[in-house]
Amino acid sequence: MKVKYRVPATSANLGPGFDSLGLAIELFNYLEMEEIEQGLRITITGEGAGELPTNKSNLVFRAAMAVFKKANKYPSGLRIIQHNEIPLSRGLGSSSAAIVGGVLAANHLIGNPLSIVELLEIATKLEGHPDNVAPAFFGGFVASCLAENSVKYITAHPDNELQIVLAIPDFQLKTKASRSCLPKEVPLKDVVFNISRVACLVGALMKSEFHHLSWATEDRLHQQYRSSLIPGLQEVIQAAKRAGAIASVLSGAGPTMLALSEKDPENVGEAMRLAFKRFGVEAKIVCTKICNNGAKTIDSFS
Ligand code: HSE
Repeated sequence: MKVKYRVPATSANLGPGFDSLGLAIELFNYLEMEEIEQGLRITITGEGAGELPTNKSNLVFRAAMAVFKKANKYPSGLRIIQHNEIPLSRGLGSSSAAIVGGVLAANHLIGNPLSIVELLEIATKLEGHPDNVAPAFFGGFVASCLAENSVKYITAHPDNELQIVLAIPDFQLKTKASRSCLPKEVPLKDVVFNISRVACLVGALMKSEFHHLSWATEDRLHQQYRSSLIPGLQEVIQAAKRAGAIASVLSGAGPTMLALSEKDPENVGEAMRLAFKRFGVEAKIVCTKICNNGAKTIDSFS
């Protein structure tokens, strides 16, 4: 038995929705998993080749093992082939894509004993928070939260007129480092600032009233603190907006910057690239769209 999955990149937070909002993006990792007679063979091409482990510490393998353990059903051996287009440690959900692909493919391989909700919970436990994992499963825009031992989520698939522009710096930023510069406590007025914007942001996306996004994506909980690690963060946001973007935010824990635009994505991208360059950061521009499909099988062979 062999299965093949395609899993989208994701952008978490969308400005004020720290650890709770996320969007799936049309940029994909591909994963093939096959039961073999014995042992573990992992091959990786594309992003992370030569950098990601190909032994038992590989994240796809660890996610698969969590499923086999929960189902108490193990294959005799495993071959994993990863082709990655999502760059690593750039705030585009590469680890969530590995985890989500791993749990889905593993479950499929052993006859789908676990439900999607069980898989989501395994994946969230491995990742630590659901904001990248949930949109990688369901596609579109997802609001999610951790509640006791379960993950609650609400999905929406906004009208797909919005263009997504990514400015992906040529340096990596580990989520752990990007979280370590956040304060342990924040002023109540900043919390209120974010809560009010998150409420309006969700409403704007649900109703496809995108013009509200310019102010509804403002944030005071994480971006200002992270700008010490991402030279030009605020200037890239301003440059994207001046070039016609409706909104621009830090993607996840960074360092990628994301802009949402209804027109001229190339101009917006060029403005973001130049703004980063003024701060000595080389960035690759990718113009893409919201991915309204979550992770999906693209092949299975018995
Ligand atoms: N919400 C997370 C953060 C996303 O901003 O740190 C990265 O995993």
